Order: sequence, then structure tokens, then C-alpha cells
Amino acid sequence: MKLIYQHMISFLLIILTSVAIIGYSEIAYITNQSYSQNYQRMEDYASALGSLAITDEKHGTIILNSEFLHQIKFVLHSDDLLFRIYGPKGKQIYPKTDKNLHLASDVLGILKQGQEIRIKNNNDSHTYLGHTKDSCTGVLVPWKNGTKMIGAIWLGAKVESVEKPIRMAKQNLVNAFLVTLIVGGALSLALSYYTTNKIKLLSHATRKVAAGDFDIQINYKGHDEIDQLAANFNQMVRTLKQSNEEVKSQEKRRDQFLTDAAHEMRTPLTTINGILEGLQYNAIPEDSKPKSIELMRRETKRLIRLVNENLDFEKIRNNQILLTKTTFNAKEVINNVCTQLSGNAEKVNDYIKVIMPDDLQVYADQDRFTQIVFNLIQNAIQFTKDGQIIIFGCRVTHGTRISVKDSGMGMNKEQMKFIFERFFKADPSRAHQGTGESGLGLSIVSSLIKQHGGKIKVESSPLEGATFIITFFDQGFEEYIEN
Ligand SMILES: Nc1ncnc2c1ncn2[C@@H]1O[C@H](COP(=O)(O)OP(=O)(O)OP(=O)(O)O)[C@@H](O)[C@H]1O
Ligand SMILES: [Mg+2]
Repeated sequence: MKLIYQHMISFLLIILTSVAIIGYSEIAYITNQSYSQNYQRMEDYASALGSLAITDEKHGTIILNSEFLHQIKFVLHSDDLLFRIYGPKGKQIYPKTDKNLHLASDVLGILKQGQEIRIKNNNDSHTYLGHTKDSCTGVLVPWKNGTKMIGAIWLGAKVESVEKPIRMAKQNLVNAFLVTLIVGGALSLALSYYTTNKIKLLSHATRKVAAGDFDIQINYKGHDEIDQLAANFNQMVRTLKQSNEEVKSQEKRRDQFLTDAAHEMRTPLTTINGILEGLQYNAIPEDSKPKSIELMRRETKRLIRLVNENLDFEKIRNNQILLTKTTFNAKEVINNVCTQLSGNAEKVNDYIKVIMPDDLQVYADQDRFTQIVFNLIQNAIQFTKDGQIIIFGCRVTHGTRISVKDSGMGMNKEQMKFIFERFFKADPSRAHQGTGESGLGLSIVSSLIKQHGGKIKVESSPLEGATFIITFFDQGFEEYIEN
């Protein structure tokens, strides 16, 4: 059964039970009052009439003359009361009847003791009075002369007239019942609707959350238990939203990390593969072999460090990349990178020149620095044909600046706005074969430089080449480090 009907029925049951109990008590009270007032009235009449009775001293009975009867009828006339008069031995002497009607001996005994008898309905029980046409409620009162009983009178009122107020009370109760049923029904419907509507809202919101909508919030104004539940629900949805966002951002971070890691690994792997192929086909001159093997060893080590230090799930989750910063000679690293990329440069007939002091100190993570410079020089080669690439290096205040300048195709302002975004390629059709196809290099470069607390800048115009200027600061002078 629906909750709204359950509520309505319970509300109605409570209201109707209350009305029934109150009504029943009220009717019982009115019945009692009505009968006892009636008895009292008739007993008062009976006693008053008794005092008017004249006694026949000789026989010890009342003289039932027409004057006395007239007086009785006159007194009782207005109240519509019936009466019967009995002699001292219980014989009915008025109204006169052929039948020899007597009061029962036990009744007579009570009367003789001077007690009055109340009879609720003479047609119901005490047949000693004889039945009347209409049921009557009445009293039997002894008349006495001193201690001696000279007769008795029965006064009776029609039950119908005594019960009139009771009938009215019952009718009122039925009316009250009907009104209560209608008003109570309407009220309980409103109240139940109010309550169940709140539950409906909650259930609707729960369905939405189950479908993945974490923006839903329930409006509540009251302070009852359901409102409390709504408040807790809202809090729960907010928490769920936060954790959902956290899960999504972690997934994004993980994906980003994996693609970045793949990008980072490709560089040393390509170098190692190139040297191995050269060795296999004897393409490397004998005197260059030790240098090539040394390069391969260095790149292998870098690859191992990369895997050990950064392919750690906890670090990915907390977005921490381990930087092991030292001060080292930038020129040496740059020269090595140029050696690695010289093959690529030759293929497109590019000339690479490094202009910087022999001992240019830089404070950075050497592997990351290698990666940054590698990406920038690789890009310069990739987007320059038959041109030259100049790598400048110098010290600036509390730092080291490196710039990679090429004479290639350059970029317009609009393209420059987006080059540091992930997967951005100014012109997808101009990517060369092999490397430079994912659009990730510069976003990794810029993120690594930020983590170093350094700076990156680009200057370029179409067909006039591009210059990437990076600055690394000395220990203690790094700029704000973003995560
Ligand atoms: N020296 C440059 N000259 C002209 N355009 C450049 C230069 N360097 C970068 N760009 C532009 O910026 C884009 C982004 O460079 P990025 O290094 O991020 O990606 P990519 O080189 O295309 O691919 P990869 O992920 O392999 O590096 C390039 O596609 C290119 O359009
Ligand atoms: Mg690139």
C-alpha cells in the first residue's frame, strides 16, 4: 500500500477513535443525567401528591375521591406523566380495572420499609406493574401516614420522551463523526501529501545521483527528521561529487603521466636503437664506436632512472615528480644532445651551432634538463629545412639562460598561443615521419620548467624561424613552483 494511504488511514483512525471515545462517554453521561433528573422530578411529584392525600383513618387507606384525582391530573397534566395508585396491600385502586392487579410482594415489602423504587422500563423487566402501551420509565413511591403505609403511587414518563435528549446526542455524534471524517480526511490527506512529497523528492534525487548527477541538491525548509535526512543527503552528494572529481582528475593525471612517460622513453630508445642498427650494419666507424657505446650506456641509464624514479603509482597520484637537482655543466649535456640529433639534422640538411661558455653552470635535474633541451632542438630540426640552428647559452642574474634559435618555418601569433597545450600541433600535416607526431613535447617541456621554478618564452613569426628561450634559476632563487 502506498505510504500516503498508510499515513491517511492511521491519521483517520486516530481521529475517529478519539471522536468515538468522547462521543460514547458523552452519551453515557447524558443518558445517566436524563434518567436521574427524570426520577428525581417524578419522586418530587409523588411526595408532593402524597402530602395532598386524605386518609381514611378507620381503614388506614387513602380516600380516592374525584377532587383528589382531579388535583393529581391537574398537577401531572402539563408534564405528560402517567400514574397508578395502589392501596396499602398493593392492590391497584386507580385506574380501576376488572383484573385484580397487585404489586408483587417483594416490591410491597420494599415500599413498606419506606423506600422508593426506580423502574427504568416497565415493559422490559418488572412485570408486577403490568405493561403499558408505550414503554415508560417511572418511580414507585409509598405514601405514609406516620410510619404506616397507606398506599403507593407509580408515576411514569414515556421512555421515548426521556430518551429524546439522548437521541439528539446520538444524532449529534453521528454528525460530528461525519464532519470529522470529511475534515480529518482532508487534513490527513494534506499532511500525508506534505510528508510523502518530501520523501518523493528524496527518492527522485537518489535516482539522479545513481544516474551520475552529483549536482543535485534538495531544498528543505523545515526541521523534522525528513528535513534532517535531506540535509544529510545533500552533504553526502557534495562529498560524492568531490570524490568523483578526485577520481576523474586522478584518472586524467594517470593518463597524462603514461603518455608523457611514453614520450620520454621514446627519445633514449630511438637513440639506442639507432646505435644498435649502426653497429649491426657496421655503419659506425671504428674510432667512433666507444663514443657511441658510451652514449648508449648513458641513455640506458637514463631510461632505468626514469622507470625507477617516476613510474611509481603513488607519485602519479600525488602529482609528484621527483627532481634531483644538481649544478652541472650545461654545455656538456647540450653537446651530447646535439651529437644524438646530428643524424636527424643531417637528413634535413640543418647546421647546428652551440655558442656558450665552456663551463656554463646550470642548477637543474640533469635528466630533465636533457629531456627539455632534446625536445627543443628536436623541434628546431623538425621544423627547419636547409637552415641553421643556433643554441646560445649564458649566465643571467641568479640563473642560466639557454635559447634555441632556428631559421625554419616559424609560427604565427595565434599558433604560438596554443603550442604549450597538450596534443597541439600548429599544422598537423607538417609533422615529419618518426618523431614529432604527438603534440606533447612542448607541454612536457613547459611543465618540467615550471616544476623547476624556471621560465620559458617563445619568439617567432611565420617563415622567419622560432626562438625558444628557457631560464633556470640558481638554488634558492627559483620562481614560484606550480604543481
Ligand atoms: N621550432 C619550431 N618551429 C615551428 N613550429 C614549432 C617549433 N616548435 C614547435 N612548433 C609547433 O608547436 C607544435 C607543438 O610542438 P610539440 O613539440 O609540443 O609537438 P610535436 O613536435 O608536434 O610532437 P612531439 O610530441 O613529438 O614533440 C608543433 O606541432 C609545431 O606546430
Ligand atoms: Mg616536439
